[in-house]
Amino acid sequence: MLLSAAVLALAGCQSGEPQLANSSVKKVLKAMTLEEKVHFVIGMGMAGSDGTTAVVGATDDIVPGAAGTTYPIPRLGIPSIVLADGPAGLRINPTRPGDDNTYYCTHFPIGTLLASTWNQELVESVGESMGEEVHEYGADVYLAPALNIHRHPLNGRNFEYYSEDPVVAGKTAAAYVRGVQKNDVGTSVKHFAYNNQETNRTGNNAVISPRAQREIYLKGFEITVKESDPWTIMSSYNKINGTYTSQDKGLITTVLRDEWGFKGLVMTDWYGGDDGAAQIKAGNDMLQPGTVLQYQQIMGAIKNGTLSEKELDVCVTRCLELVKRSPKVKGYAYTNKPDLKAHAAVTRQSALEGMVLLENNGVLPLQDVKKVAVFGCTSYAFIAGGTGSGNVNRAYTVSLLDGLKNAGFQVDDSKKEAVLKHIADEEAAFKATLPEGDMLAAFYPVPRPTEIIPNALELAASALKNDVAIITFGRNSGEFFDRTSADFSLNDGERKLLNNVTKAFHAVGKKVVVVLNVGGVIETASWKNIPDAVLLAWQAGQEGGNSVTDILTGVESPSGKLTMTFPLHLMDAASSKNFPIDATNEVYFMNRRENSNVKDVDVTRYEEGIYVGYRWFDKQGLEVSYPFGFGLSYTSFEYSEPTVVNDGKTVTATVRVKNVGSVAGKEAVQLYVSAPAGSLDKPVKELKAYAKTAKLAPGESQVLTLTFPTSELASFDEEKSAWVVDAGTYSFLFGASSRDIRCTAQAEAAASEVPAHRVLLMQ
Ligand code: BGC
Repeated sequence: MLLSAAVLALAGCQSGEPQLANSSVKKVLKAMTLEEKVHFVIGMGMAGSDGTTAVVGATDDIVPGAAGTTYPIPRLGIPSIVLADGPAGLRINPTRPGDDNTYYCTHFPIGTLLASTWNQELVESVGESMGEEVHEYGADVYLAPALNIHRHPLNGRNFEYYSEDPVVAGKTAAAYVRGVQKNDVGTSVKHFAYNNQETNRTGNNAVISPRAQREIYLKGFEITVKESDPWTIMSSYNKINGTYTSQDKGLITTVLRDEWGFKGLVMTDWYGGDDGAAQIKAGNDMLQPGTVLQYQQIMGAIKNGTLSEKELDVCVTRCLELVKRSPKVKGYAYTNKPDLKAHAAVTRQSALEGMVLLENNGVLPLQDVKKVAVFGCTSYAFIAGGTGSGNVNRAYTVSLLDGLKNAGFQVDDSKKEAVLKHIADEEAAFKATLPEGDMLAAFYPVPRPTEIIPNALELAASALKNDVAIITFGRNSGEFFDRTSADFSLNDGERKLLNNVTKAFHAVGKKVVVVLNVGGVIETASWKNIPDAVLLAWQAGQEGGNSVTDILTGVESPSGKLTMTFPLHLMDAASSKNFPIDATNEVYFMNRRENSNVKDVDVTRYEEGIYVGYRWFDKQGLEVSYPFGFGLSYTSFEYSEPTVVNDGKTVTATVRVKNVGSVAGKEAVQLYVSAPAGSLDKPVKELKAYAKTAKLAPGESQVLTLTFPTSELASFDEEKSAWVVDAGTYSFLFGASSRDIRCTAQAEAAASEVPAHRVLLMQ
C-alpha cells in the first residue's frame, strides 16, 4: 500500500519519533535500530520474483513496472522511493490491472543518437523532458544515463551508450543528468564501470591497466560527476582486476568520492556482486533490488565484527539523504499525466540532429519527388530502440512508410499487411526455438527478418512508376546479449535487395537511398557506394519515421556526426583480439563461472590499453570506412582564424565557422590535441572539447569558443601514479572529423604532476 508523506508524518508525530521530512538525517539515523538499518540499505526485492529473494516481499504497488523500491520505515517518516529505468525514456508498465488509464512513456532516441548530435544543450533539453515523465509518473530516481565506452562494435548495449571517446561520453551524460535533475528527481549514472560486454557480464573479470582505466573507462564518469552532480551512481556487474566493482573500495570510495568529490549514493546493478557486507564496506550504499541473502551477509558480518555499525552508518546516512531529497518525502502529488504530446515533438526534433549522413551523391534532400518506393522489411516496422531494461513502453512507433505518408508522399503500401505478417511469423518461429522456461527468452533481440525481394519485373515496374527508392536495413540488439559477427554485416538477402533495387532504379535514371535503422556499428565499406545516399538514422525513438522523413526532405540539414569509428573490417578494431565474438551468451550468463578462466568470457584482457577507437586506428594508420567524428551535411562549412590560449588553468580555443553552402545548417567542431613527445607513449591526437554552431544561414559565420581545463592535457603515469603534463608545445587541431582537420593552432604548456591514489591495480 502506498503510504503518503502526510500519513507517515502523522504516524510519526503521534509517536514523537523524528520524521525524515523535517528532522536531520543524523537524528533519524540515531533513532533507527540495527535491523532497520540493514533492511534500509537493501531494496524491496523485485516484482515478479518468487519471493525467496525478496527481503519483505516485492513492492509493485507504487509504480508498476519500475525496477526497484527502497525499504520504508513508517515510524520515522521514511517512505519507499521508486527507481525506474531508462535511458531512452522511463520504463514502467503501460497498463495496470483493473485500471482503464494508460501509462505510456515517450520513447526518445537511443543514447548513441543523442551523443551523435554533439549538442549538449539539446541533450540537456531532452533530459528535461524525460525527467518530467519520471516526476509525473511518481518515480524518484531515473536509472540513466548509461555511458560505458564503446570498446567493441558488437557490445549488445552500445545503443544505450554514447561513444568510443570518454569526452563525448562524459559531456553527453553530464548534459543529460543536468536536464533530468531539473525536475527535482535523481539520476543513476551507470554502469560504473568497465561494463563493456554483455557476455557473462555478471561474472566477467575485466583486466585493465590503471592508465586505460583512468584515461578511457573512468574519464567519462569523472566528467559527469564533476559537471552535473548526479544524485546516484550505479556500480556495474563485472569485476575489475579480480574484484567486483561494487565491492571495490578503491573504485567507489577512493576514486569516486575522495578524488572526484562525488557526494551522492552508489547503488548496485540489479543483483550485482556476491557479498553484501563487502559492498557496504566498500561504500556501495544501496543493494538493489535486494535479497534475503544480502541481509544475512550484512547482519552476519556485523555480528562477527568484520563490518562495524559505523561503516554501515555511512551507507545508511547516504540512503537517508537520497530519500530525504526525493519527491516522495516532499509529498509531491504526481499527476500520471506528463505532457506526452509535447515530448513527441521533442523526440522528433532531437532525432534530426543525431542522424548521420554517410553518403550523398546529390539525391538528398529529395527534390521533385512525389512517389516513393520503399523496400526492406524494417521500412514497415521501424525499430524505436533496443531491448532489455533500455526498452520503453511507448504508445506507438512511426514507421518510415507512415513518416513518408504523413509528409504527403505517395507510397505504395499495398504490401504492408503481408510484410508485417511475414515479420510476425518469423518472430514467432524464432521464439519457438528458444529453450522453454529460459528466463532470458523474453529479452532475446529478434533477428532481422528475411528480406522480401521483388522479382525483376516487379522492380522494373516500380522503378518506372516511382521517383526514388528507399531501402531500410534494421538491426535489433539489447541487454544480455552481445551482437554477432553475422549481425555486423549485410546478409545475402540484404545484399541482393540492395543490388537488385539499385540496378532497376539506376536503369531508368532513378536514385536509391539506404536508411540504416541500427543501434550500433555495421560493415559499410563493401556496399556503401552502390546506392546514391546512405543515412544512418540510428534508432530514433517513437517518432523515427517522421524524423527520417524530415531529414530526407531537408526540413533540417543533417548535422549529426559519428561518435565512433566505422572500421573496414570487424577484426580491424583493436579490441577484437579480446572480445567474446560469437560466444554463446546464455550458457555463461546462467552459470556464474567463478574462478574459471575462459578467454574473453570469464576474463577479458584489455590488451589494447588506451588505444580504443580512433586512438587505435590513428596509431596504426589504418584506413577506415568512416572515421570518428564524420558526418555530411546538405551545406558546407569553412573554418578560419584558429586561436588558442593556455593560461595554465584553462585552455581556450576559438575558430570561425562559415556556412559556404546554399542551405542553412549546423556544424559540430571537434578540438583535438596532439601532445609533444614526452615520457609516455601518446595517442596521435585526442579529443578534448567540442561545440556546435547555431543554425547558420548561407554566408553566415560564427566564432566558436572551446575550452577545457589545462590539467586535461595530462596522461596517467602508472609508475608515478600521477597525472602528468609534459612541458612543451601542444598542437590544437580543429576538425570536421578526426580525419578532416581544417586548421591548427599551437600553445605551450608547463610541466605538472598531480598524484592519484595507487588503486585499481592489475594483479
Ligand atoms: C541493468 C541496468 C538496469 C537494471 C534495472 C540491469 O539488468 O543492467 O541497466 O538499470 O537492470 O532494471
